Amino acid sequence: VLVQFPRNRGGCDEKNPLVSGSFRKGNTHQTLVPIREVFSAAPELEVREFLLKDMVVPRCFGCALCISKGKEFCPTFAEEKELQDNLEWCDALVVASPVYNGRETFIVKAFFDKFTHFVHRPCFFEKKAMVLVTRGGLFREAGKYISKTLRQWGFDVTVSCGEPELPVLREHLLPKVEGKLKRKAMAFVRSLEKGKPPAAFSRKIWFEVWKVNVSLGKAINPVDYDYWNSQGWLEASFYYPTRVNPFAKMLSVVLRPIMESQMRKTFKGY
Ligand SMILES: Cc1cc2nc3c(=O)[nH]c(=O)nc-3n(C[C@H](O)[C@H](O)[C@H](O)COP(=O)(O)O)c2cc1C
Repeated sequence: VLVQFPRNRGGCDEKNPLVSGSFRKGNTHQTLVPIREVFSAAPELEVREFLLKDMVVPRCFGCALCISKGKEFCPTFAEEKELQDNLEWCDALVVASPVYNGRETFIVKAFFDKFTHFVHRPCFFEKKAMVLVTRGGLFREAGKYISKTLRQWGFDVTVSCGEPELPVLREHLLPKVEGKLKRKAMAFVRSLEKGKPPAAFSRKIWFEVWKVNVSLGKAINPVDYDYWNSQGWLEASFYYPTRVNPFAKMLSVVLRPIMESQMRKTFKGY
């Protein structure tokens, strides 16, 4: 896994930390070489790279206190602080994973599980993300899952790719795949200058589902409710002011009472 944290916006001493996690410096590490080259050619980027396997990614014990009470109530909050601090400090992130049995490695999943509270209380709307899965092709599930989770945290995932790992390729294929990886990395660097994206159909619907969930679940999860309320989201049409997909906007008016009724029928306390 490679997680990248670029640039402080607007400053002349911009910084880009990059976190990379993997079980070894193997194929995924090698496949990141063209991407690293592009990043190092951009002097305004400071990149930090971390292998998740070398970092403290504590097991989630399932107490859900991060969700119901707040992230600082997690029994392992102090241990995951390094990851948490880097996530907050970064402007962008690259997550890379080899495909294991059709999906991301378990440590990537563990990383996402540790920060589930960001799904409930997303906050990374100013940040961009790139996803790289080695052995892409038919094995898209890993890339889709990583992208989806980062979007739920608020990241704008501007580049997502799945490529065969460079060390296994025949010589004549290397320039083609290396070139593709470089172009993807360049597109990612360019995307760092872009503002927040408009609310696409699925993101708007996702926002509405959460809004109903948080509103009806006020008594069950007041932490979520207070956060959403403090952000002004309970009255807003999206997380931030932007153009909203008009079809999703209309649909959400129709969907809201249906979702409310379904959730009330389904969940205790709603
Ligand atoms: C436990 C395990 C499961 C794997 N499962 C798949 C798979 O489902 N599909 C696939 O294309 N490759 C699979 N592979 C191959 C790896 O994705 C591939 O070798 C990758 O480049 C390894 O990256 P790494 O050297 O960074 O660990 C698997 C490898 C391992 C060790």
